[in-house]
Amino acid sequence: MQFDFHSTRSILVQRGGSAQLAKIAQEQGATKVLIVTDPGVLSAGLLEKALPQFKELHIPVHIFSDVQADPPVAVIEQAVQVAQEYQADCVIGFGGGSSMDVAKLVALLSLGKEKLADIYGIGNAKGPRLPLILVPTTAGTGSEATKSSVVTVSESEKKGVLSPHLLPDVALLDAELTLGLPAHVTAATGIDAMVHAIEAFTTKHLKNPMADCLAKEALRLLSNNLHRAVTSGDDIVARENMLLGACLGGMAFTNAPVAGVHALAYPIGARFHVPHGLSNSLVLAPVMRFNLDVAHAMYADLGQIIKPGLQGSTMEQATQLVDYLGTLAGELGLPTQLSQVGIAEKDIDQLAQDAMLQTRLLMNSPREIKRQDAAALYREAL
Ligand SMILES: NC(=O)c1ccc[n+]([C@@H]2O[C@H](COP(=O)([O-])OP(=O)(O)OC[C@H]3O[C@@H](n4cnc5c(N)ncnc54)[C@H](O)[C@@H]3O)[C@@H](O)[C@H]2O)c1
Ligand SMILES: [Fe+2]
Repeated sequence: MQFDFHSTRSILVQRGGSAQLAKIAQEQGATKVLIVTDPGVLSAGLLEKALPQFKELHIPVHIFSDVQADPPVAVIEQAVQVAQEYQADCVIGFGGGSSMDVAKLVALLSLGKEKLADIYGIGNAKGPRLPLILVPTTAGTGSEATKSSVVTVSESEKKGVLSPHLLPDVALLDAELTLGLPAHVTAATGIDAMVHAIEAFTTKHLKNPMADCLAKEALRLLSNNLHRAVTSGDDIVARENMLLGACLGGMAFTNAPVAGVHALAYPIGARFHVPHGLSNSLVLAPVMRFNLDVAHAMYADLGQIIKPGLQGSTMEQATQLVDYLGTLAGELGLPTQLSQVGIAEKDIDQLAQDAMLQTRLLMNSPREIKRQDAAALYREAL
């Protein structure tokens, strides 16, 4: 056995912990802080608890709130320029995966030693970076515990920067920040987190026992709390379990990478601006069904976590799991077919062609996905 496990150095789980953010930044040596977020998070008032302590501790703060979902290159460049002009010496990513991913790259690129165009792919970003603190406000991407940042590079393609230097110094999990997350965002981001755990556990490359433990516990927490978090958004226990589950999912998949579901989801997000979690959810059951022949024993293991007491052969248990996951999005009020998000038969060839560019993800699929398979899977999801 040989594997290399990376994780966030310090993970602080504390309800209301955002009020201590300035102190956390000070402990990282911050004297001038850039907070990276998006307009939705800002207008939801989520920074209100955090800001007073910066005043008390006399730490100047600038808020960059122009992050867009599925951040394009231009937003990252703009945020880097703001950080440089402001001479920030600490970056806080505060929001969903989009805000955290931008913050990670700002911490790295604002030092002016590396260029975004040179660091796509695995291990090309060498650091150093500014001190970096990440505060998730969705329970989904787990970006606070991953070494990746996802950038939309064109209208058809997303690319990842993967490097241990993108792991933050501190992740703060404050479930109170997620209490007002709208039901449809809760559902979609929650399914994204479940997909991270499922794909990490079944990845063809780099599967390892530490990631397996994390993926299983992530899936237990997520599947036991997702319905409650969607239907009773103010249930702090469900919210906290979701946040922890998403973080564990991130820890798992950053060490045992995601695969076909994400490879097919990315073109849907890039071309049709469908939110990341929903894109994943739309292709989840077809991709898992495609994998059944080779992955049924692993799916059966996961089935016992999501639906304890499943009966029958491993293939039968795995099939029941896939059938259940195929109904989950609908139960949670999300669209279940590509046609419901504006995708038609005429788009499928293009999507399949785009998906083939995701070689970094496709190589992890338990069963090889060729272009005609991708097209058939999109067609099944239509
Ligand atoms: N780095 C990684 O490891 C990783 C992993 C998976 C996905 N991603 C990327 O993350 C991005 C998706 O992130 P996401 O799903 O968290 O969504 P997001 O960050 O794009 O946010 C979605 C929406 O939810 C709103 N929002 C966020 N928190 C809120 C709250 N508490 N209350 C009210 N509204 C809130 C935001 O304003 C935004 O409009 C994509 O770009 C995806 O590619 C990154
Ligand atoms: Fe994801």
